Amino acid sequence: MNKPKRYLITAALPYANGPLHIGHIAGAYLPADIFVRYLRLKGEDVKFVCGSDEHGIPITLRALKEHRTPQQVVDTYHHLNSTTFARFGISFDIFHRTSDPLHHETASAFFKRLYDKGELMELETDQFYDEEAKQFLADRYIEGTCPNCGNERAYGDQCEKCGKSLSPDELLHPRSMLSGKPPVKRKTVHWFLPLDKYQKQWLEAWIEGRKDHWKPNVYGQCRSWLDQGLQPRAITRDLDWGVSVPLPQAKGKVLYVWFDAPIGYISATRALTDDWEKYWKHPDTRLIHFIGKDNIVFHCIIFPAMLKAHGEYILPDDVPANEFLNLEGNKLSTSRNWAVWLHEYLDENPGKEDVLRYVLCSIMPETKDSEFTWKDYQARNNNELVAILGNFVNRVMVLTGKFFENRVPPADACDELKQLLLQQQTRVEESLEHFRFREALQEVMQVVRHGNKLLTENEPWKLIKTHPQQAGIVLHDCLQLIANIAILIEPFLPFTARTILKMLNLDISVLRWENIGRLNLLTAGHRLGAAELLFEKIEDQFVVRQTQKLYGNAQPKAAASEAEKRKPLISYDDFAKLDLRVGKILSAEKVEKADKLLRLLVDLGNEQRTIVSGIAPYFHPEDIIGKKVSVVANLAPKKIRGIESHGMILLAENKDGRLAFVSPAEEAQEGSEIK
Ligand code: 2FM
Ligand code: ZN
Repeated sequence: MNKPKRYLITAALPYANGPLHIGHIAGAYLPADIFVRYLRLKGEDVKFVCGSDEHGIPITLRALKEHRTPQQVVDTYHHLNSTTFARFGISFDIFHRTSDPLHHETASAFFKRLYDKGELMELETDQFYDEEAKQFLADRYIEGTCPNCGNERAYGDQCEKCGKSLSPDELLHPRSMLSGKPPVKRKTVHWFLPLDKYQKQWLEAWIEGRKDHWKPNVYGQCRSWLDQGLQPRAITRDLDWGVSVPLPQAKGKVLYVWFDAPIGYISATRALTDDWEKYWKHPDTRLIHFIGKDNIVFHCIIFPAMLKAHGEYILPDDVPANEFLNLEGNKLSTSRNWAVWLHEYLDENPGKEDVLRYVLCSIMPETKDSEFTWKDYQARNNNELVAILGNFVNRVMVLTGKFFENRVPPADACDELKQLLLQQQTRVEESLEHFRFREALQEVMQVVRHGNKLLTENEPWKLIKTHPQQAGIVLHDCLQLIANIAILIEPFLPFTARTILKMLNLDISVLRWENIGRLNLLTAGHRLGAAELLFEKIEDQFVVRQTQKLYGNAQPKAAASEAEKRKPLISYDDFAKLDLRVGKILSAEKVEKADKLLRLLVDLGNEQRTIVSGIAPYFHPEDIIGKKVSVVANLAPKKIRGIESHGMILLAENKDGRLAFVSPAEEAQEGSEIK
């Protein structure tokens, strides 16, 4: 699109049925916040809206389980999440909620307009009904066996084990979540969005037009939905929690949560400003939805279909969805408590908001799933924030204090430095405009590295004795550089940017993108504030404590059902095809740029094999040297990250998700056959 006049940025409304964890943050909220802060620095007209998604069955089920009302559940988490976001510096202009009357009114009117325009299909369908609870069973009120993977606890809308989208009819052995009994079928009327019709009319062409513009993962998911052929989608449910369907004949029915939730973006904007229509209805607005990959279909297909059917709204220009973040080798899981909860992190680590922002930005799952480990958190803090950024700022502050009575020494503007800053500014812009946040942060860090280089090469602490004026020039340049860094780094590390400004005794009005490259942000003679340590080194003990906390609090994996554990019978001949051998690990080393992999050299008696194994999250290389292991010795060789792997090590997966070697007894000799 042409240069937009204004931006409307949304971040997925989190369900108000639980706290936020680092996966939510790295997926949607941190990238959105960085982008918005960047736009604000540029002086763009931008609104950043979010809120709690307070309807839907996970909420009513939680209320049922905890003997509370749904409203009590959402009140708890709305307040917790709203404060947590603010404490972490996620700078929404509004954090609204879908239980607010304004939202009910907005969503209701939206539905009514589609209905009045004749956009909706009214269909009578057979739905599962719990005769004991006297209630229809929508989506997650029904459980059964997944036809795809055999998971006995698949929901009526999705199997969380294999990820397949399901309809309740596909479940084998369905049972009600309310009474546990098998449900019966009853007739009920619902309203549907004719996605099949829209696909042909405009939706497919519209998505195709975004092919080169949207991230490949986003376009790819849309393409696969379109290839399967879109189906009419029910947008109402038989439930008593949600936005009532505004039709006299629809008593006891509410809007489907995925119909009302994205309208939450609209009601949030309405609550924020009287000017809201300008942001939603004017083609000069650039609308961008930040979400995680599980929300792609709703934001790229269903919500655009709703907006277009309504007729007055603009469509999203981009939907930069991220992939998922894993934690210490496992999927983040709320039910297993395998998570780093943001409010707990903030309680336990006051003043370290930016450390987590830095780490999550550095490992953001932009193009593929990525992994958070406490070890890596420590390494990035110690080797990058402390050693590069903190060290540079601190050295310059201390030297200026010591040699120039804490006043900015005089110097002429250095053209070379200006060019470097302008070049890096362009690079950061280029990366941010394409939602490459990791790369953008690295470009900022390049500027900091340059500062350290200036210090190391010029050694002002020595120069001061022989050429004090020269020493002053070096420190002057470094101080101007630090002021520029405060601006460049603000979208990523907003707390640090403000601390730097305080140290420089500068006002926050300096924080403008157009100031980058200026080497007169500080005038000669300007008195600096007091030096503060920006970051502290993190000790190994911290990592041990956090990891222990994680394992200590984790719920064991739900015991696999008998059906899941069992594999089909095989004949002895099938088993005999495996050449299993006793091996001994001779050496182990990390594979570069592959967090999970270790390259092992394994002694098999008369030969030594290279085996690449995905065990790095579980074992330190030095701890496993000399270990006896069981090896599948006749597995066809496979290239993994450029290394040819000749075999496989057998591992047992414990209930808590940790891996253990299947180790032969000491007296078993290397190379012996296991049979
Ligand atoms: O996946 C989720 O957490 C949903 N609550 C996101 C809703 S986004 C929007 F449509 F409101
Ligand atoms: Zn499944």
